[in-house]
Amino acid sequence: MKAPALIALALPVLLAGCASGPSAEEQAAMVADARKAAAALTQRLGGELKTALGEKGAEGAIGVCKERAPQIAAEVSKQFGLQATRVSPKNRNPAAVPDAWEAEVQTGLEKRLAAGEKPETLDTWQIVATPTGKQFRYAKALPVLPLCLTCHGDPAAIPAGVKARLAADYPLDKATGYAPGMVRGIVSIKRPL
Ligand code: HEC
Repeated sequence: MKAPALIALALPVLLAGCASGPSAEEQAAMVADARKAAAALTQRLGGELKTALGEKGAEGAIGVCKERAPQIAAEVSKQFGLQATRVSPKNRNPAAVPDAWEAEVQTGLEKRLAAGEKPETLDTWQIVATPTGKQFRYAKALPVLPLCLTCHGDPAAIPAGVKARLAADYPLDKATGYAPGMVRGIVSIKRPL
């Protein structure tokens, strides 16, 4: 078969695929995958953070977070075939600024938390249209635990050495002033369709 004939055959199929989008089963599988990826990211990073806090103390753990958080996000992204990051409206990493979708869903997740939903189940997803095609998007809330306060709590309660290290590494840091139970940020996952 010549190429134009192939294209003529394939095009309606492709267009039909685009118009209908993923089936309910495909969407459920993407949500399950995104949940696994978000859990993997949170657990791996949390594990390394706890080890670093024990071995090096909070000041030393800042360096581990700085180096390992983006690496673990990249490893999880590769493993699950998607793009996973952590973002926050009060970001510490200068690159962790939420886009419009991320900012809006975090506000929604905060409302669900305030309405009494358990922090463990605070996630959401959507299929969105982008200039380059449809995209599956997923967000999971990262609630503040007592453990987080050494580096994200009330500035008056953050140890001086930690404060100095944060000021040196993150001069534009906005990620302090949190209390337990607040949403610190989200794991954000994108997957082009
Ligand atoms: C030892 C200090 C330390 C502790 C404890 C800590 N963090 Fe962080 N956190 C950091 C550093 C440093 C960064 C910036 C990492 C980077 O450069 O990507 C960060 C970044 C983040 C980000 C990414 C968005 C941003 O602002 O850059 C989130 C979300 C986050 N932390 C949540 C938490 C949560 C939730 C806890 C408790 C479970 C926690 N952190 C505990 C030091 C800490």
